[in-house]
Amino acid sequence: MSIHIAAPEGAIAPRVLLPGDPLRAKFIAENYLDDAKKYNDVRGMYGFTGTYKGIPVTVQGTGMGMPSHAIYVHELINSYGVKTLVRVGSCGSLQPEVKIRDVVMGLSASTNSSMVPQRFNGMSFAPTADWQLVSKAAERAAELGLNLKCGNILSSDTFYDEDPDIWKLWAKYGVMAVEMEAAALYTLAARFGVKALCLLTVSDSLVTKEVTTSEEREKTFTQMMELALETVIRVEG
Ligand code: HPA
Repeated sequence: MSIHIAAPEGAIAPRVLLPGDPLRAKFIAENYLDDAKKYNDVRGMYGFTGTYKGIPVTVQGTGMGMPSHAIYVHELINSYGVKTLVRVGSCGSLQPEVKIRDVVMGLSASTNSSMVPQRFNGMSFAPTADWQLVSKAAERAAELGLNLKCGNILSSDTFYDEDPDIWKLWAKYGVMAVEMEAAALYTLAARFGVKALCLLTVSDSLVTKEVTTSEEREKTFTQMMELALETVIRVEG
């Protein structure tokens, strides 16, 4: 038991996938895992554990934004001994070559949030993905024929900005896409010595203003999920 997760000891696997949307957690458990069992519905933030190719895997919703995400990540690591965390989410493209439906891997996560500098007395830390997860995902993506876009992403505290063009500053520095959680995930993983990775599907483009249809999102989502699952089972738990 932890404050926000009502799971008995042993109910959560060492390998965890982290969608923001708890209903996505349910969908993943029902469609990708065998023998999935729900262990949490506190605040409607569903968590399920099942197996993928015989290996136990948990999928836990985290909500939107870094404060919510960080609560679940902290408790998964410190109360349940989780060792490998892969966020599976969506993002907005900041670059013309990052297209709708592409799958993006965040090698590093810049942020406009105070959550990270607050830990470092105002200094800047570089939240970075785990190399083992990065290399396994890149290898597997090549085998699956998936054109994975890899680079720096932006973890933003805001979805609606006062200045609608503020994203262009990050784009000028090559930041590929914007989402709202990875910088907190990578920072906590570094702090507690565990592995983390963020995989994203491009759901909209700030460059072209395109948005995806739900059908299109579904197809890309399937590719990202396959990659996430194939990656987590290739690292030690
Ligand atoms: N901004 C922030 N997070 C997002 C976006 C976006 O445009 N699209 C999907 N997640």
